[in-house]
Amino acid sequence: MDMSDHKHRIVPDQLRSRWWFDNPDHPGTTALCIERYLNYGITLEELTSGKPIIGICQSGSDLTPCNRHHIELVKRVKDGIRAAGGVPFEFPLHPIHENVRRPTAALDRNLAYLGLVEVLHGYPLDGVVLTTGCDKTTPACLMAAATVNIPAIVLSGGPMLNSWRDNERVGSGTIIWELRKRLAAGDIDYDEFLSRATDSAPSIGHCNTMGTASTMNSMAEALGMSLPGSAMIPAPYKERAAVAYDTGKRSVEMVWEDLRPSDILTRAAFENAIVVCSALGGSSNAPIHINAIARHAGVELTNDDWQQLGHKIPLLANVMPAGAYLSEEFHRAGGVPAVLHELLDAGKLHAEVMTINGQTLGANVQGRETQDPEVIRRYANPLVEHAGFLNLKGNLFDSALMKTSVISADFRRRFLNDPSDPDAFEGRVAVFDGSEDYHARIDDPALNIDETSILVMRGAGPVGHPGGAEVVNMQPPEALLKRGIESLPCLGDGRQSGTSGSPSILNASPEAATGGGLALLETGDRLRVDLRRGEVRVLIDDAELAKRRRRLEAQGGYRYPAHQTPWQEIQRTLVEPLDRGMTLEPATKYRDVARR
Ligand code: FES
Ligand code: MG
Repeated sequence: MDMSDHKHRIVPDQLRSRWWFDNPDHPGTTALCIERYLNYGITLEELTSGKPIIGICQSGSDLTPCNRHHIELVKRVKDGIRAAGGVPFEFPLHPIHENVRRPTAALDRNLAYLGLVEVLHGYPLDGVVLTTGCDKTTPACLMAAATVNIPAIVLSGGPMLNSWRDNERVGSGTIIWELRKRLAAGDIDYDEFLSRATDSAPSIGHCNTMGTASTMNSMAEALGMSLPGSAMIPAPYKERAAVAYDTGKRSVEMVWEDLRPSDILTRAAFENAIVVCSALGGSSNAPIHINAIARHAGVELTNDDWQQLGHKIPLLANVMPAGAYLSEEFHRAGGVPAVLHELLDAGKLHAEVMTINGQTLGANVQGRETQDPEVIRRYANPLVEHAGFLNLKGNLFDSALMKTSVISADFRRRFLNDPSDPDAFEGRVAVFDGSEDYHARIDDPALNIDETSILVMRGAGPVGHPGGAEVVNMQPPEALLKRGIESLPCLGDGRQSGTSGSPSILNASPEAATGGGLALLETGDRLRVDLRRGEVRVLIDDAELAKRRRRLEAQGGYRYPAHQTPWQEIQRTLVEPLDRGMTLEPATKYRDVARR
């Protein structure tokens, strides 16, 4: 790199890695740190001549198929690092694979975060490339980057190719929810269920829908933490490997420029991310993860911000589950930069924020308008007018989110149909304690579930079901499915898969297990949901609620299953509610912890 570059803020002597690798004041330390790296062929010259040492945080493994592609991809990252004069060091991230890990991959987000913080704190790295993909790999990496605050850049592995069946697009994840209903209704058998499910994953890469993985990688780009246009390049495309090379090169330049996460992860950047999430029809897990990254970056961000900044933003990305297409069309239509371009033109974004390539967001998206206005809509011609989250409150919880971009016409017709009160509905609740209870009892006629019922899931938050279960999108009983009633309103203190298209009320905080009001609800209670006023209320008086609370407390509070592992116990002791990002409370006070 040209040392006269005006962006150049540090010189080789200031590299953090020099303390370990070239420290004449502590020759013993240096000798101990350096000798063992030579035992596989790294040379003394590489470690002592002032080349930036760049970590590559490897999230791919045989256990993590969504990210496994990174095992190949990092070869191009290393080429880029070498080309820019750096030395790459690859190391593993604790595996996080969404749909296999039990009890839930959400447990691993904070565990991987802690592990990565320790690595970035205590090893001789001047910068780091964060390889991301499957849902929680992106927030785990960004949370750690925010805490440690060394130069860091995100490289998504990219989504799978489009998946097809009978000449129709089938969205990964999303199709599973549909197939489960068809299997339960007796419309398909087990073999066809499996064959259709496997058709939905046609190549390397993460989910090709706008589920949590695509949302979070798009958020990383919207925040300014990955190269413009890189988030949604499908995994097998040649551009994916090319952007891996560019990311490697850029990681070295960032070290010389001393461009850190704290320069990028500002309040304005998080406000941009909220706006972009709405326009994408992004996952209901995004507020949890974005709020968590913000907390670690020292930025105040709440679910009220999500409603205030995001709710009225229109849906521009015509991608499943809110829309019709998949990641290949989204990428060809211009990807995240085209969405940013529309939002910027409409005056909805902060243009001046700094991004990872050293340019502002405004500069990055110049001339990047949509190449296909059917797939990435013009701001004036959206798919849905108000696509963001509502932050609902009431007498059972302080915050619960509803993703309004997926409220279907059928749902509106059946539940939001009173002309004098078009944004409200009431129903009798059927209450379940965790997903096993739901599966055991959903078809029980004694519950009297009909087409006006509301299904409630509690015991599914980060404490009740360690990590928070993605179980709030419950399907109606078989008898209703057979009559063509495909969905009922759902409410719960757990999460919902980002690939699900159900208009559920999610992430209710505080959860039942930590004293939240859902613990007081009984099957047969009536609930009123008022979307205009942002309220969910159980229609019983305060005295009755207080009586139920006293009874619950006399019984020792809401019961939840025992810890199965040491980490489950530790996380349950320290974790904050979903609306605060499900972060580990003691961790959120640490900033700038890179050892120097
Ligand atoms: Fe890994 Fe969807 S299961 S991205
Ligand atoms: Mg998920």
